[in-house]
Amino acid sequence: MKLLITGGAGFIGSALVRLAVARGHAVVNLDALTYAACEENVAPAADSPLYTFERADIRDRAALDRIFAERAPEAVLHLAAESHVDRSIDGPGDFVETNITGTYNLLEAARAYWEGRGRPEGFRFHHVSTDEVFGSLPADRTIKFTEDTPYDPRSPYSASKAASDHLVRAWHKTYGLPVLLTNCSNNYGPYHFPEKLIPVVILNARAGRALPIYGTGENVRDWLYVEDHADALLTVLEKGRVGRSYNIGGENERSNLELVRTLCAILDELCPKESGFYAQQIAFVADRPGHDARYAIDPTRIREELGWRPSVTVEEGLRRTVAWYLANEAWWRPLQSRAGVGQRLGTGAAAE
Ligand SMILES: NC(=O)c1ccc[n+]([C@@H]2O[C@H](COP(=O)([O-])OP(=O)(O)OC[C@H]3O[C@@H](n4cnc5c(N)ncnc54)[C@H](O)[C@@H]3O)[C@@H](O)[C@H]2O)c1
Repeated sequence: MKLLITGGAGFIGSALVRLAVARGHAVVNLDALTYAACEENVAPAADSPLYTFERADIRDRAALDRIFAERAPEAVLHLAAESHVDRSIDGPGDFVETNITGTYNLLEAARAYWEGRGRPEGFRFHHVSTDEVFGSLPADRTIKFTEDTPYDPRSPYSASKAASDHLVRAWHKTYGLPVLLTNCSNNYGPYHFPEKLIPVVILNARAGRALPIYGTGENVRDWLYVEDHADALLTVLEKGRVGRSYNIGGENERSNLELVRTLCAILDELCPKESGFYAQQIAFVADRPGHDARYAIDPTRIREELGWRPSVTVEEGLRRTVAWYLANEAWWRPLQSRAGVGQRLGTGAAAE
């Protein structure tokens, strides 16, 4: 299948590009190469004749029309987005423009292309979204997000993603565009940009710096290894029912404090400090404004309808991730000097 993947130089998009090429799909990677992108993320696939790259911005409709016409994809997997909640608090405008207007542009470009080709039945527009659109769950671990949970986004990031989800559904209902949606929990793994919690903890630990935990560290997230997410996306693309959404999660709930302690224990084992333990570097810092208490996915639909389940346990995935960062300084070191990385963002102090 010929896939147009947007955001393929980012964290999840690049995992999808690597997996799709490895499985024999032709891939056009469309990415604007923002601060969050890294072309090296796709290096394992870049030499394949199945891979092509288009530097383009999803806010640029003319560029999208050209790429659809020249590349003639059979499906779109839309991952390009501004993705960092803390940055959305300081600068929500970029999130509205890329996540909402950009998705609108992509939908319109896809619709024009699809209609121009006689509305081929097999075409798919797969929109990749987040569980954060559902808001925040209570502590009771029997309660989880299903596909029928009402939307209740609470950060500029999740509100912009929720808006884009609504646009995608509307383009299906109104114009018949054959869409698929997925809402996934927190991802982790190799090539995770070093402003997100897990890489920050690993890299600060090794550098002897504080391991910052927002608030009391009780916020709970449901963690999924990024390569399992990529596998789930291809499963939904191939087998998902048009117009339907699928929640994707790892059924691995951890509080931030538990997660950081686990990472410290892995680091203690893989690269022990000369004296003491990494957990001694944990430091509690001011909480994020509006910090959602808990996210957890009920993955019954994707498991029962499509037979998908994660392949990597969180213990194994975290171990692989720590080992990857320890072995790949040449990847993460230059990214640490990009704008905003290593600074405390999203306290509301720099709001627009
Ligand atoms: N990271 C997670 O835990 C998670 C969980 C669920 C869903 N998601 C969703 O998955 C998608 C990918 O997330 P990620 O963590 O890989 O993000 P990321 O920030 O690592 O990558 C985003 C990519 O999109 C590109 N991009 C940004 N603005 C663009 C624009 N205007 N035009 C073209 N390209 C642009 C960037 O250059 C970057 O390569 C996002 O839509 C996000 O909402 C992420």
